[in-house]
Amino acid sequence: MSFLKKSLALMCVLFLAKPVFAIEEDGYDLWLRYRPLDSHSGSKLAQHAQAIVYAAEPSQTVNAAVAELRRGVGGMSGRTPATVRKLRDGALVLATPASMPALKDLNLPMVELGTEGYLLRGVRLQGHRVTLIAANSDVGLLYGAFAWLRLARTGADLATLTTQSTPKVKLRMLNHWDNLDRTVERGYAGESIWDWWSLPDIRDPRYVDYARANASLGINGTVLTNVNSKAEVLTPAWIAKTAAVADILRPYGIKVYLTARFSAPLELKEASTADPLDPAVAAWWKSKANEIYKAIPDFGGFLVKANSEGQPGPQDYGRNHADGANMLARAVAPHNGVVLWRAFVYSPESREDRAKQAFNEFKPLDGRFDSNVVIQVKNGAIDFQPREPFHPLFGAMPKTALGLELQITKEYLGFATHLAYLGTMYEELLKADTRLRDVGPTVAEIVDGSFHHTSSTAMAGVANIGSSRMWSGSHFDQANWYVFGRMAWDPRATARDVAREWVAQTFSAKPVVVDAVTEMMMTSREAVVNYMTPLGLHHLMDTGHHYGPGPWVDNLQRADWNPVYYHKADRNGVGFDRGPGGSNAVAQYAPAWSRVFSDPHTTPDEYLLWFHHLPWDYSMRSGKTLWQEVIAHYDAGVLSVADSQARWVKLKPSIDPLRHADVAARLAVQLREAQWWRDACIAYFQSVSGLPLPNGVRPPPLTLDQYKARRFSFAPGRG
Ligand code: GCU
Repeated sequence: MSFLKKSLALMCVLFLAKPVFAIEEDGYDLWLRYRPLDSHSGSKLAQHAQAIVYAAEPSQTVNAAVAELRRGVGGMSGRTPATVRKLRDGALVLATPASMPALKDLNLPMVELGTEGYLLRGVRLQGHRVTLIAANSDVGLLYGAFAWLRLARTGADLATLTTQSTPKVKLRMLNHWDNLDRTVERGYAGESIWDWWSLPDIRDPRYVDYARANASLGINGTVLTNVNSKAEVLTPAWIAKTAAVADILRPYGIKVYLTARFSAPLELKEASTADPLDPAVAAWWKSKANEIYKAIPDFGGFLVKANSEGQPGPQDYGRNHADGANMLARAVAPHNGVVLWRAFVYSPESREDRAKQAFNEFKPLDGRFDSNVVIQVKNGAIDFQPREPFHPLFGAMPKTALGLELQITKEYLGFATHLAYLGTMYEELLKADTRLRDVGPTVAEIVDGSFHHTSSTAMAGVANIGSSRMWSGSHFDQANWYVFGRMAWDPRATARDVAREWVAQTFSAKPVVVDAVTEMMMTSREAVVNYMTPLGLHHLMDTGHHYGPGPWVDNLQRADWNPVYYHKADRNGVGFDRGPGGSNAVAQYAPAWSRVFSDPHTTPDEYLLWFHHLPWDYSMRSGKTLWQEVIAHYDAGVLSVADSQARWVKLKPSIDPLRHADVAARLAVQLREAQWWRDACIAYFQSVSGLPLPNGVRPPPLTLDQYKARRFSFAPGRG
C-alpha cells in the first residue's frame, strides 16, 4: 500500500471509530431532544406510531399533543406519522370518553385517572391493535403524549406498555422571581424570559417551548413575577401583557399567576390605605380581580410576600396574615382563584431565633384561612440553605392548606456554575418523617394532602429559567427544573430514578453514560454541603450575592443577616443552640423529634450544629473531635468534586463536544471554588478556635485576611 493509501485508510478507521455527533448540542432542546434512535429501535418505535388517531374535532391542547407526538416520533424514527380520524392497526390513539365513546367497551379504570391523569396501554379497539393514550381531559392526553415519548426515549418496551399515572399534588407551579425590567432576583440564567417591553404584541416563540417543557413535566401554573413585587404589574398595560402570555400557555394546561404587592392600592394612588379590613381596600382588590379575570378568565390568582424583609403587609395596620390573605382570597374566590400566601417571614424588630419566627406567626392562625388560601412554606425554616431540617410548620397546621416552596435556582448552592443536583435534597425533605405519629406522616404526605385530607395542595419551585440559550444557565441545572416538575407530579418519585430518566433523554441512553452521570448527580449536593456548610452549619455565605464564603461577616445591619449569628463560633465551640437551654426551636417539632434534636448525642450529624453549640473537642460518632470532623467534611467535599471531574473526563467519547466542554469548564471552576470554600472556612474557624490543624491536613494557602479581601462586584442575581 502506498503511503497515501495507508494514511487514507488510517484516517477512515479513526473517523469511523469516533462517534459522530450530527447536531451541535447547545442545550436549547432540553430533555425534549428527540434525536434519531439507532435504526432497529427507530423502526420499532415507528411500528407503534404508524399514524396518530384522534376521532373528534381537536382542541388547541389536543393539537399540541399531536404536534409533540409527530415531532417526537419523526425525530426519533425518521418517519413522521400522519394524523387521521379513523382507527387503524399500529396507530397511536388519543382518546377521551367524549372523543371516543367506544372507550367504555374496554372497561378502563377511567375514574382513577381524575381530571389530569392518563393511561397508556396496548389494546384491541374495534378490531384494531393500537396503542392507547387515554384520559378524561385534553390536558390528560397532552400529559399522556409526553409520558409515551419519555418512555420511548428511555428504552421502555412499547409493545407491552401498560401504565397509568395521576398527579398527587393539585397546583404544580413555577415561581419566577422576575422583575419588570427583566432582571431576575436570584436568577443565574440571563435576563428574564418574559420580554415585558415587547409584550403583548411580540410573542417570542420561546414561550411555546417553555410551555412544552413545563407540560412535559405536568407543571400547571406559573407565577410570572418576583415575590418582591411592584404595584405596576396590576395596571392595565401589564394585565394586557400577562394576558398575552396566558393565551400562549393555556393550550399547555398552564395557568398564569401574578405576585400582588400588598400596598398596591395605596401605591397606585387609588386608595388612602392598604388596611385589609378597610372596606374600600377590599373593594379595590375585588374590582382589580374582576378586571384581571375579564382579560384572563382562567387567571390562577396571587402569590404574596407580606411583612417579610421589608415588604408591606397586614401587620403594618395591626392585622394578621389571615386578615390579609382572606381579604385577597375573597376578591378572587368568585373566579375560582387562589391566594398563595408565603410563610417566609421574619421580623426586623424581633430578637427571637429567626428559625422560629414563621412558626410563631402562623401556627396560631391554623384554621383561620379561607379555603382558597394556601400557605406556601419553604422547605426549611431559614432560607434555602444547602441543608436544613424540614420546616416545623409541616404537620403543625392540620386545618390549613400548606404548600411547599422549593428553590430550583441555586442561590446558596453555587448558582449555575457548581453542579448540585437538587433531586436528593427534595427527596430528603419529602421523605422526612414528621413523627406526628409513631411512624409518619412524611412531609410528602402533608404536602400531597393525604394525611390531613386537604384538597388544596401545592408545590412551587423558584424557577432557574432565563433567556440563556440553555434555559437554566448550565446543562446540569436543567435537571433541577426537571426533577422539581417530576416530584411535584409525584412527591414519592426518587431522585435516582428521575436522574437516570433525565440523563437518558438529555445526554445519552447508553448505560455507561447513564450510570456515570447519575452518580455525578447523586453525590453532587452532598459535596456542596460538605465544602460549604457541613454538619448543620448554615448561612456562611458572603454578603449580598450569597456565592462565596463569608463566615467572618458580622457587620450587616440586622443581626440575623450575619453569618456569625448562625455559627456562633468562638474559642470554645461552634453552632447554634436551639435546644431547651438555647432558643428551644426544637420544641416546634413533634415530641419525638424534639427529644432527638434536644440531645447532641441523638441528633443526626448532618443537623448537629444547626441545633447545638458544641466544644471543638466534642467527641463525634466517628471517634474524631468536632474540629477534626469539620475539616474532614470540608476535605470530602473537595474530593467529591474531583471525583466527578474525573468521571466526566472519561465520558468525553460519549458526549457531544460542545456540552462536554461546557460542563468540563464548570467542573474546573467548581473544583477551584470548593477548594476556596474549604480553605477560607478552615482559615476562619482556625482563627477563632485557635486550634492547630490536625496532622496531615493541608493548611490553607492564603491568610484569612486575603480570603476576606476577595470581592465580587456585579455578581448575578441581585434583582
Ligand atoms: C431569600 C433571597 C431573597 C428573596 C427571599 C424570599 O432571602 O435572598 O432574594 O427575596 O429569599 O424568598 O422572599
